Formats: sequence, structure tokens, C-alpha cells
Amino acid sequence: MSAPGRRFRDRGHSLRARLVVTVLLLFVLACAVIGVATTIALRQFLYNRLDQDILGAAERFTMSRQFQERGIPPPLGAPGRDGFLGPAQKPRTLGAVIVGGVVVQSEVTDRRGSSAALPAHDAATIAALPANTRPENVQLSIGEYRVATISGASGEVLALGQPADEATGILNGLVVIELVVIGVALGGAAVAATLVVRRELRPLEQVASVAAKVSTMPLDKGEIELAERVRDPDPRTEVGQVGGALNRMLDNIEGALEARQESETQLRQFVADASHELRTPLAAIRGYAELTRRDGTVLPESTTHALTRISSQAMRMSTLVEDLLLLARLDAGRPLERAEVDLTRLVLDAVGDAHAAGPGHRWKLDLPDEPVTVVGDASRLTQVLVNLLANARTHTPAGTEVTVGLVAGSPAELTVTDTGPGIPPALLPHVFERFARGERSRVRAVNNTASTGLGLAIVDAVVSAHGGSVSVASEPGRTAFTVRLPGVPAKSPVPVPTRV
Ligand SMILES: Nc1ncnc2c1ncn2[C@@H]1O[C@H](COP(=O)(O)OP(=O)(O)OP(=O)(O)O)[C@@H](O)[C@H]1O
Ligand SMILES: [Mg+2]
Repeated sequence: MSAPGRRFRDRGHSLRARLVVTVLLLFVLACAVIGVATTIALRQFLYNRLDQDILGAAERFTMSRQFQERGIPPPLGAPGRDGFLGPAQKPRTLGAVIVGGVVVQSEVTDRRGSSAALPAHDAATIAALPANTRPENVQLSIGEYRVATISGASGEVLALGQPADEATGILNGLVVIELVVIGVALGGAAVAATLVVRRELRPLEQVASVAAKVSTMPLDKGEIELAERVRDPDPRTEVGQVGGALNRMLDNIEGALEARQESETQLRQFVADASHELRTPLAAIRGYAELTRRDGTVLPESTTHALTRISSQAMRMSTLVEDLLLLARLDAGRPLERAEVDLTRLVLDAVGDAHAAGPGHRWKLDLPDEPVTVVGDASRLTQVLVNLLANARTHTPAGTEVTVGLVAGSPAELTVTDTGPGIPPALLPHVFERFARGERSRVRAVNNTASTGLGLAIVDAVVSAHGGSVSVASEPGRTAFTVRLPGVPAKSPVPVPTRV
């Protein structure tokens, strides 16, 4: 592509504008070629005719000389009989005899049959012409002339010319007509090209609009209805083929999304069922272990140790199962309870419990005077608080200051800030994902302290189910979790039919 064409494209002009401009450029090019070829052909034709006239004048001149030399008088009444050009010359024929670079004899015939000498200025112009030149255009005061020069036997040069202004006038007229016609045709072509290109590209706009709508749809989760399609794509046109291909691609994606949704539902159902089924045997294991320990029978130390381990592991597994069940239920869109919840009260209770569990930490409150209320599920929101406070307690060393703040409004804002070592930067972007844990937490998990990496995933799921959001900012010395909950009644999530 040429540099201007590339620049036009790089400037981000629409396909429609580029097509119209390209069509018009080609049109102008075609008109220019036709115009130039026509003008050159006509010019050739007209000048050939003038050259023939010059040749005719030269023949008549030679004939008249021969008559003179033989003493035969020229025919009476013939135009130009008084001049040296001889009779029967066409009107406005120019003739001049040049000897030694000076015009010694000149004649220009007129329509009435008489003739006059060349003006001095024009005589000088003619005298300056080289001998034996092919016919060429010369601008004289009496008009534009096509003049040829011929050397005579005795050294003189004869110049003969025919008026060329008529031919030039015709050529100029032709150029003006061509320019006007091309201009008018260009305007018409611009309008027609714009209308045709717009009509032809309309289906492409529909394709673009369907693709744009689909591109903004959240396809990552949930049941997705991909109803957007290009209407009646015509397979005979390229644009129709693109539309058809897009429709087939959307059918394919819809099928894949349905399959994904189905397998996700099955998996969720399986996790929920498994968690549910595991609750009872786990409770039984814990109960029996506890019963055996308190039996009164003196047990060997190793058996007591084993029973303690069985209890703690069963407890850990129960927590994990409860967390998994809760997540499965939230994923399935189980509606939460909707009641006015006093967040201030929840914070006071949770911080009190955290203080009892972690007396080594410094617990602080930053609460407004008025109680902060939101609409939601009190037990789930308590779980959010408990998880965040447990993290601030278990993932920071003793002596760390933990501040729980509340700000009323819509959204109401709950913050849990600690002065601990912070979340590792590599973990930070994934911290709300399921089973995301720092290395130290994994060690704790191996050492049987309950740490599953589900705490923040539950926080995220519960807050999202309330129509809110949770975010984290962490650096060594300051980790802050911010939970935003709608202050006005939030819309219930649409319940999805489920057995969970
Ligand atoms: N306040 C915090 N300070 C430092 N690291 C944190 C903090 N909160 C969370 N983390 C890091 O984020 C990880 C994920 O936390 P999350 O609560 O999801 O899981 P967990 O605490 O390891 O396990 P669980 O909460 O299920 O018992 C933690 O393992 C820990 O590495
Ligand atoms: Mg945790």
C-alpha cells in the first residue's frame, strides 16, 4: 500500500470511509486517464491537420514560383496574388523569407484575399527559428501559429505557418468540459458510493453489535443465556458468511457453557452431598472419641494421645466440611436470610471473642457513635467477621495491633486492619481464592492447626451474596481488609433450583 494510503488507514478511519475514498480515487484515476488520452488524441489530430495545411501552403508557394519562373501569370482573382506566397493560399497563412537571420520578405494573408507584412516584432521571432524545423507552435502578436522552416537552394530559409489558436481553443475547451464533467460525475459517484457502501456494510454493523454485546456478557459463571445472534445472514455474501460463522461460533460457545454449567452444578451437588453426608459420621467419631476419653478407665498414654489426635482431626475435618457445605450452598445461589442486622453489635461480640482467643494481641475498635445497620444474614455476617479476625490473630505474631472499624453509609464499610507482617505479595492477588494459603499456614495445617485456606473464600462468597464487595491492601506492617455492604436492602440473589 502507498504511504498516503497507509497513513489514511493508520489514522483509524472507518472501513466505510476507506472504501468510499478508494472507489473515488479509482474513479478519478480512470477519468484522468480517459481525459488525458482523449486530449492527446484530439491534439494529435488537430495538429496533423495544421501540418497538412502547412504542407499544402508550401506546395502552392512552390507552384506559384514555378509559374513565375516560366513567365506564366498566376490565375487572376486568386487570394494572395499580390504577395510572394502566390495565389490560393488559405486565409491567415503566414510566410516569411529569412536571409542571414533577417526576415527580408513576409506575408500574412487575410480573408478578403489581400495580404500584409508581418509586424516587426513577429518577424524577429520568426527569424530566430532554426532552419528546417518540424512544425512547432510559436506565440506571435497576431495569434498563436504553427510554423515550419525549410532551407532553400540559395541559402535563404522559408518559414510557413498556419494559425493554431483555433486548435488550442478547441483543446482548452475540451479540457474545461472534461474537468466540469469529471467534477460533477465525482460528486455523483461520492453520493452513490457512500449510499451503496453504507447499505452493503449494514450487515457488518449488525455482526459487530452482536459481537460487542456478547463480549460484555459475564460468561465466567452461572447459567448463561446466549441469545444474541446475527439475523438472517446471507451466505452468498462475504459479510453474510462472517455473520453465519459468528452465529455458529455462538452456538458452539453456548453448548460449551451449558455443558460447563451442568458439570459445575453436578460437582457442586456432589460436594454439597458429600459434605452433608460426612457431617454425621464425623460428629459420631468426635463423640465416641470424647466418650472413650472420659470413660473413667485408665488408658495408656499412647491411647490417650491417639484419642486426642482423633478428636482434633475430626474437629478440623468437621470445620472443613462445614466450610465446603456453606460454599456449595452460596455457589448454588441459596437465598440468604434478609433482616436488619446491627453490625456494631456483631463487631463488639466478635472482637470480644477474638480478645478471649488471642489475649496476646492488642484489639482496638473504631466505631461511630450511632449503630451501623445493614440488611442481611446475621449468622453469615458473623462468620465474615470471625474469619477476618481469626486471620488477624493467627497470621500475625503476639503483640500485633488489630483495629476493627465501621463507617455508616451506603455502602456501610467494615475494616479489619492489623500491623502484622502482611500477606506475601505472590499470594495477595489470589488470597480470596479457595484453598489459597501462605507457606506458613501450610506448615500450620500440616501441624494440625485448623487452616484450610477457605476462610477468605467464604468471606468473599458471603459478602458477594449480600451484594457487597471485599478488598485487601497489604504491606509489611499494615494489612487492611475492607468489606462494603449495601446500606439499603439489597436484591436477593435469584434462587437456583437445587437439592443442596
Ligand atoms: N491478616 C493477615 N495477615 C497475614 N496474612 C494473612 C492475613 N489474612 C490472611 N492471610 C494469608 O492469606 C491466606 C488465606 O487466608 P484464609 O483465611 O483464606 O485461609 P487460612 O487462614 O489459611 O485458613 P482458614 O481460614 O480456612 O482456616 C492465609 O493462609 C495467610 O497466609
Ligand atoms: Mg483464615
